[in-house]
Amino acid sequence: MANAAAQAAAPQAAAPQAAPQPFAPHDWKSVRAQFLLRPDYAHLSNFFFASNPTPVREAIAKYRKAFDENPYNFLDDNMFERDQDMLWRQVCAAAAEYTGGQPHEIALTSSTTMGLALIYNGLRLKPGQEILTTTHEFYPHHESIRLACDKWGASWRKIPLYESSLNFSADKAIARIRAAIRPHTRVVGVTWVHSNTGVRLPIAEVAAVIKDLNRNRDEADRILLVVDGVHGFGVADEDVAKMGCDFFSAGTHKWILGPHGTGIIWGKAESWKHVQPTIPSLMAPETEDAWRQERPPHGPTEAAWISPGGFFAYEHQWATVEAFRFVRQIGRKRIQDRILELNGQIKEGLARMKHVTLHTPLDPAVSAGIVTFDVQGYKPKDVVRILRDNRVVASATPYAVPHVRLSAGIVNFPKEIDKALKVIRSLA
Ligand SMILES: Cc1ncc(COP(=O)(O)O)c(C=O)c1O
Repeated sequence: MANAAAQAAAPQAAAPQAAPQPFAPHDWKSVRAQFLLRPDYAHLSNFFFASNPTPVREAIAKYRKAFDENPYNFLDDNMFERDQDMLWRQVCAAAAEYTGGQPHEIALTSSTTMGLALIYNGLRLKPGQEILTTTHEFYPHHESIRLACDKWGASWRKIPLYESSLNFSADKAIARIRAAIRPHTRVVGVTWVHSNTGVRLPIAEVAAVIKDLNRNRDEADRILLVVDGVHGFGVADEDVAKMGCDFFSAGTHKWILGPHGTGIIWGKAESWKHVQPTIPSLMAPETEDAWRQERPPHGPTEAAWISPGGFFAYEHQWATVEAFRFVRQIGRKRIQDRILELNGQIKEGLARMKHVTLHTPLDPAVSAGIVTFDVQGYKPKDVVRILRDNRVVASATPYAVPHVRLSAGIVNFPKEIDKALKVIRSLA
């Protein structure tokens, strides 16, 4: 031990360092070089909690230093002093650009979970109204719905959109949603990319059904579409603001590769009025003015009223701008194509193995960056452990019926997928 410690402490001759290359967004090797990911591992779970690229790390470090040097003035100058200087506005602008929406349609959260909770807790439901959702949602979505129903005296119902995810049919899923909506259904809650099966739901088509059913409804009873969008956001080349949903919650610490503890809600401008704020905001002058003047806030709820206050880890929140810039530089379409190609390689490799049951559809139109499967004779967590022993990072899905999950992102290369497939092949 003493020797090891002495060795670790001994000064080492500095290895000659290659001059850092400028970032070349069209070159996947250059993209990967922006991450500190250990090169001896195949990181096929980077979607779970992003490793941040250089510009994001540098922005976090820059803000952190400024806070450490003079926290009061740095916060006051950038958060409170002059409205136009507020850095959170730049985050909303970057998020709006990425979603194809407007800055005033964006609320800033700390995660997908927080966004879902703020929406459901705030949607004013009348007793007797119901929330319709699916059996494919992850825990924070179901739990937000359950808590909201308890609070508002509403009810909720879960329907399956498919029995076999491998043979997922978008048309059948949409037809099931249409058939399940009842006169007292006020909210439909779905997930864009299901994290237990990898199915990608066509949100625009769900929205079209809801629009059709809303034709004869009053605004107060209009069906609202809420989307847990986290595993499509940063993967699919689609403008969230044009998909037709009312609210879309996504963490930006997964596929957007942003700082940990960051996320957004995009909401249709005319839908925010249905949401009652849960947490006092520091981004809405009107709510603070109202408090000072001892009156209720004037006007309908705006997105900024939903952005939770209390001080945040602003070095993270503000550095999210750099994450949006990074993925924009590479290009949303190129990212989508790369992710579909790499995950296609995973699926095709697994589909050829007789001892593997693949759950994710092969069709890239109804899948994205998540591939789930089971290996005959092994529990998912045992497969994950064996992969880890072989320096492949996979995950076991945290659902009632868990599966093994592999996920390739823009940090990956085909040879890493070959390595993962080789280990799984050896389990036959
Ligand atoms: C479908 C889905 N929704 C929400 C979450 C939670 O996201 P967050 O950590 O941003 O709250 C996850 C986690 O991976 C997920 O798979």
